[in-house]
Amino acid sequence: MTQTLGVCYYPEHWPEAQWAEDAARMVETGLSWVRIGEFAWSRMEPSPDQLELDWLDRAIAVLGTAGLKVIIGTPTATPPRWMLDKHPDMLAVDAEGRPRKFGSRRHYSFSHEGYRAECRRIVTILAERYGKNPHVAAWQTDNEYGCHDTVLSYAQSDTEAFRNWLAQKYQSPEALNRAWGNIFWSMDYASFDDIDLPNLTVTEANPSHMLAYRRFASDMVVAFNRIQTDVLRKYTDAPLIHNYMGRITEFDHYAVGDDLDIASWDSYPIGFLSDRLEGSADHKARFLRQGDPDMQAFHHDLYRAVGKGRWWVMEQQPGPVNWAPYNPAPLPGMMRLWAWEAFAHGAETVCYFRWRQAPFAQEQMHAGLLRPDSAAAPALAEAATVAQELQSLPALHQATAPVALVFDYASAWAWDVQPQGADFDYFRLCFAFYRGLRQAGLSIDILPPDTADLSAYKLVLAPGLLSISDPLKSALGRFEGTALIGPRSNSKTPELEIPIPMPPALDGLETTVSLVESLPPDCSVTLQDGGCFKHWFEHLEGSADVVKRTSSGLPALVRAGGLHYLAGWPDAETLLSLLSELANAQGITTTRLPEGLRIRDTASHRFYINYAPEPLSHDGHTIAPADVLWVERR
Ligand code: GAL
Repeated sequence: MTQTLGVCYYPEHWPEAQWAEDAARMVETGLSWVRIGEFAWSRMEPSPDQLELDWLDRAIAVLGTAGLKVIIGTPTATPPRWMLDKHPDMLAVDAEGRPRKFGSRRHYSFSHEGYRAECRRIVTILAERYGKNPHVAAWQTDNEYGCHDTVLSYAQSDTEAFRNWLAQKYQSPEALNRAWGNIFWSMDYASFDDIDLPNLTVTEANPSHMLAYRRFASDMVVAFNRIQTDVLRKYTDAPLIHNYMGRITEFDHYAVGDDLDIASWDSYPIGFLSDRLEGSADHKARFLRQGDPDMQAFHHDLYRAVGKGRWWVMEQQPGPVNWAPYNPAPLPGMMRLWAWEAFAHGAETVCYFRWRQAPFAQEQMHAGLLRPDSAAAPALAEAATVAQELQSLPALHQATAPVALVFDYASAWAWDVQPQGADFDYFRLCFAFYRGLRQAGLSIDILPPDTADLSAYKLVLAPGLLSISDPLKSALGRFEGTALIGPRSNSKTPELEIPIPMPPALDGLETTVSLVESLPPDCSVTLQDGGCFKHWFEHLEGSADVVKRTSSGLPALVRAGGLHYLAGWPDAETLLSLLSELANAQGITTTRLPEGLRIRDTASHRFYINYAPEPLSHDGHTIAPADVLWVERR
């Protein structure tokens, strides 16, 4: 498989006379793919029962004839204004009970049956018309499920759908009352029709109720997407894709991915650094124009797992964006670096967002490959460079990494519902472990929580995993490498109750978490050989071998054979040395990379990726700022 580039294009934004020239220029730049259509519903159907697809027929023909492969995005993220006249109650409602109004995008509730039917209808029309079109080589469903906080909705349709979902899952109100412990505070229900969504309660709702709602909300996204994939499968053999986002954990991406052929995500490194990552002011200043050195890689690895090996970047930041609090320009070279980093992690295709900067509406301050006046923006030449380089490099193949990290969406919901400490966040915890491994120079695979075979790995990490699934439990039982479980792993039942026997309840490991503490940001529990835990510390009792202790002599890390349980959330330095020690003990070579340099191994090549604003040296190579170097692996 050879890696390719593409771009997102909005023919409906530009005079038709310009399409052919745009297409020719895309091809000349070395782009192979063009994604269109995902926000164009109001042009496809200007009013109910008025279908206008001739312009789309022509756009596809122009782009396809120029030699581009077209990805059609279904337009369901932007229902037109008339849709609200047909379905006034389709809007999502926020937790305070306020409808999320028309005038931007994603203004729908996933559970609304009327809107679902409209989506099935428009997707059927498009699929019938373009399913066998030779230029249409892939389909994207909707756009960025969950973006703009749109998974959780508290509309009437959600209440009704939730009741049905509960009735199916629990069968009787008595079973639900038992499963949730509703006797506490006299919360017992006599009928499913009495159960409301868990917002606007006086104080916190029952965590089991909240987790059930989160599972339900995720299922609604899966069902919504499946409506579209079911239709598309009938009319096309082209691969089906969705473009996920960065650090969105409100729905189970693995479950959505099961209905698709390829996972993709939208990578905005500089936007994400300022808008959705914890980090010191120094860190954010150092990586201001490059993005965090681990954020993209984490999602590349995550979506490789979600896509079962097949994944793309559907939107790549091309310059300053418009939506973060501050929007600096990338260092020259970053638009090339990000693409190469994605390829090094196995991306089949990287599409830049977008072809030409729009001079109008919400994203007029968002760069493109071209300026609004069609002159080249800096990213155009970088995209052309990547296209040329791709031709000289043999296709890249992925190698199984030595280390795996388990990532689970239900755990993110559970700890969101019950953080116990204000800054206990599941993504943040997993990302900290991921960063430690990367600083040690390692390549990582991310695994879903129901993984049944770990035998390809030497070191497996499962921090914060709500409950360990049966397949994973047996895989761990058979595992001959080192496993690091904890903190907080296997600490709850899937209903969010404390299991008895008490956690972590891992076969063979004689340890019990007897007490847990969360800690404010400026406090820590120091360890005997240096380092510390922050945010979270668990007191362990039992007879398991103690590998590390706190300064006051309490167990910090215990083990039975290769199975380790970690009693706290190590700070960055501690994590780096702990993970290096565990890896080294398994014969995995680690290093300590200069801050901002990262390594990614493919089957054939080692990539050195420099996110730092200055040159960095490693292994006898010096890598310029914002540059990527690849060497053949010995
Ligand atoms: C993405 C979205 C695009 C565009 C882009 C701007 O989240 O899918 O439509 O809005 O952000 O950065």
